Amino acid sequence: MSQKKTAKKTTTTQKSGSIKKKVAKKMSKVIEKKLVGKKLPTREMISLQSVRGMRDILPGEQSYWQQARKVLELEAEEYGFGRIDVPVIEFENLYRQPIGPDSEMVEKEFYTFKTRGRDDVVLRPDFTPAVARAYLQHGMNMFTQPIKLFSTGSSYRYDRPAEGRYREFQQANYDIFGEHDPVLDAQVIQIAYRVLQKLGINDIQFQVNSIGTRESREQYNDLLKSYFLSKKSKLPSKYRDIIETDPMRIFDATDDKTMQVCAGAPQAIDHLDKESREHFKNLLEYLDELDLPYMINPLLTRGMEYYTQTIFEIYATDEKGMKHALGGGGRYDDLIESFGGEPTPAIGFGFGIDRLVLEMKRLKTKSYQPPRARVYLAQLGDLAKKKSLRIFSDIENAGILVAESFGRGNLKEQMEQAQKMGVEVTLIVGQKEALDGTVIVKNMHTGTQETVAREKVIDAVKNAMKQSVVVKKVRHKQKK
Ligand code: HAM
Repeated sequence: MSQKKTAKKTTTTQKSGSIKKKVAKKMSKVIEKKLVGKKLPTREMISLQSVRGMRDILPGEQSYWQQARKVLELEAEEYGFGRIDVPVIEFENLYRQPIGPDSEMVEKEFYTFKTRGRDDVVLRPDFTPAVARAYLQHGMNMFTQPIKLFSTGSSYRYDRPAEGRYREFQQANYDIFGEHDPVLDAQVIQIAYRVLQKLGINDIQFQVNSIGTRESREQYNDLLKSYFLSKKSKLPSKYRDIIETDPMRIFDATDDKTMQVCAGAPQAIDHLDKESREHFKNLLEYLDELDLPYMINPLLTRGMEYYTQTIFEIYATDEKGMKHALGGGGRYDDLIESFGGEPTPAIGFGFGIDRLVLEMKRLKTKSYQPPRARVYLAQLGDLAKKKSLRIFSDIENAGILVAESFGRGNLKEQMEQAQKMGVEVTLIVGQKEALDGTVIVKNMHTGTQETVAREKVIDAVKNAMKQSVVVKKVRHKQKK
């Protein structure tokens, strides 16, 4: 390229650069002009309230939750239940039919929505259909039966929120597939009793009923329809509306007028087929054998259509005389077949963990006590904090539970915290120790302290812990 051309090009580039600058300057003036007098967009107001019926479970409540979960899980393990986790979202039709397409739960309580892929889905309102789906999907019907599954997590129902009734709540379920023997009905009931006993919830009412096989239940439903139709004028309109679709739900009424009508209604137990009668009789014998108290409630029904034969519910009564269902369940011998599987009997029940916790709190039962730290690590200054991180993990790796408060700068406050926690040993790393590579090991029971090299700290802690156990024993004896 000739020098002339290069020079020309440079001037053109310079020119276009200055034009760009001019245009940019002009544009920014236009934008500035446009913005004058206009407010910048403000942030959308955010409500700091959780969604109605949904709640936070704060640290102060967690000890009860931990205790409940520990007992529920332990019981599942002891009885040979394998844990299964199912998704929170399922296809809506997995639930619609089994629960009852005309039921109030399907019509009013389902959280349904369409996904971006245009699938109709539901937030699981309970676990049973999902666990039954998983049983079939993963070929568990091919394994040696019975299959025992434990599931726990949140369920969602658009219910009217009240104390103990939430739109998101936690359940724990024990389900057994592939066995029809009433001994298993008795076994799941025994599990329910054991959980409650271990949680310190002893004052309960256990109600049981049999609604027979699907065929006998259909016949019974027809009888109920005719009965309620004959009493239609005595029923409030909300019950009149469900006579044809869901007559059994009228038994859930709590108003005197409806309850009087229900008292004269035909009872499922009087209309059982021979096999269901025998099954129920055997179950009651097993419960007697196990010394598990029960009350037969011939008007007991369950909200879901999938149940057959045995159904039960466990209630607690609060100081106002209000009854709360802590758990409930029953047989659902037709569910797997209705999903296209081979006929497979099944029995199970679910606890509402929120309600167990409420009851534990009401009764002031023992809550979970997390293991207590035996050592406290106090530090002063930035360098000491840095060194303490390593010391902390070394002690933890040695299997010793250690507490710290890296956020606190004040040594006095940290020592007070250690005292409050009742630890046996406090380790102190100040500026000097951080520079020297040492740690002060203070025995909190004798009050003595020594400075040790950082590598020796685990041995020193173990020694101090041994000494403090001896001191504790001596003091205990002296007190006696
Ligand atoms: P469920 O009786 O609908 O049964 O629920 C079981 C327990 O969940 C109830 O007894 C109650 O403690 C708790 N619960 C229900 N609704 C709420 C709510 N809105 N707020 C707080 N807690 C609630 C079932 O769900 C069956 N799937 C149980 C089952 C398992 N049957 C066979 N296997």
